[in-house]
Amino acid sequence: MNLRLHNICWLRRYAVWCRYAGGGWWGRGSIVSPEMRGFYEKFLPFNEFKHSLITIGEQILESPDWVPNILRSNDILSLPDFWAMLPDAFAGRVTFAEDEFFPLFCAIADPSRFGTSDNRYPAQLQQIGDFIKRTGQGRAVRILDLGCGVGLGTYELAQIAAAVGGSAVGVTSEHLEVWMASHRHLPHDAARERLFRRYPEDLSVTFSYGFAESYRDGSQYDVIVCNGLAGGRFLNAAPQLTAFLQTCDTLLAPHGRVFAANRFHEGERPGVERLRAIARQSGWSVEGHWQSLVLSKTLSIEKAPLCH
Ligand SMILES: C[S@@+](CC[C@H](N)C(=O)[O-])C[C@H]1O[C@@H](n2cnc3c(N)ncnc32)[C@H](O)[C@@H]1O
Repeated sequence: MNLRLHNICWLRRYAVWCRYAGGGWWGRGSIVSPEMRGFYEKFLPFNEFKHSLITIGEQILESPDWVPNILRSNDILSLPDFWAMLPDAFAGRVTFAEDEFFPLFCAIADPSRFGTSDNRYPAQLQQIGDFIKRTGQGRAVRILDLGCGVGLGTYELAQIAAAVGGSAVGVTSEHLEVWMASHRHLPHDAARERLFRRYPEDLSVTFSYGFAESYRDGSQYDVIVCNGLAGGRFLNAAPQLTAFLQTCDTLLAPHGRVFAANRFHEGERPGVERLRAIARQSGWSVEGHWQSLVLSKTLSIEKAPLCH
């Protein structure tokens, strides 16, 4: 019902916009200036649009928690900013058919700027493969991927682990990403969904909802990967970075490694350097370029393997 009400309401608003606003409708590549924002906000206020989507999401998604986090934040300033993050099928629109709402929520949870894909950090994959060969001695390794997005990178890691009978777990803070990763289904992006087919069905890989700062599952992992997250816009304040390092400390097996790569722009480098500094202060050894860090922990008494 809310779907119909949403469409009626926003069709009316759109008609008012056409009548009084003048000027062209937003198009891909339009520069979203403060003037453009003000102009759209006057007739099509994003806050109201967002609340309408949240209400629909709370009704049609598995649970109210599945509404994408960004809709509950104030990060999107206007409709043009919102459209700029969506695929062409949804960009520039205020009304949607009933069966488009679920793919729309998936698109909001997995915006193209996240860039979640496989083969994104080939040098890191090589490093992880070498590390497993060097230290694993053929033993089944466990890999944890914190901030895994829709999981394409996790499948890639699971494939490396599978070579020695191991497994991978992906963790992310969006329920819809967990759903997309587990089902190998991207309802908003058929082209990228095909990438999942590169990975055998019988890979040992699972996905969970959780936060890099607090995730615990009682397991120990030989390798923890955290790409495109630590030090960036979602996780850069000192208390968050400290909590992230505590998560790694708790979940990392003795002699394990944390690999943290990113493709952040230079402006985000201070966040990553903060991570490096806090890690060193708390007893980690940190190596590598700021866009591809490798962390290892000096063994604590409790974690030291028993000598026989
Ligand atoms: C830029 S994407 C990177 C995805 C993937 N690791 C990659 O490199 O392709 C960051 C991901 O982290 C998730 N995320 C954001 N904050 C998080 C947190 N505190 N804990 C876990 N995941 C988080 C986002 O939902 C998003 O999927």
